[in-house]
Amino acid sequence: MNQARIREIVICMGSSCFSRGNKQLLGVIQQYLKSHGLYDAVTFRGSHCFGACENGPVLMINGNTHTRVSSADIIDILESYLV
Ligand code: FES
Repeated sequence: MNQARIREIVICMGSSCFSRGNKQLLGVIQQYLKSHGLYDAVTFRGSHCFGACENGPVLMINGNTHTRVSSADIIDILESYLV
């Protein structure tokens, strides 16, 4: 079982990030948390625009901002918090 070193994920649900990829990332992250037994241990929520649309899609993990996140990157980013 992975340690829940991911405490909180906040994904930007602003229209720019949503259309640039966060719509897909939402599902990918939910699936990842479920398949790793982290769904109940991690606070996962959406937020309004972070004011960084030009660098979207944007999300925050444990207060760290990640920009230009793609479906190809997100798993590596999540895993980097579990190592
Ligand atoms: S819509 Fe995500 S930073 Fe603005």
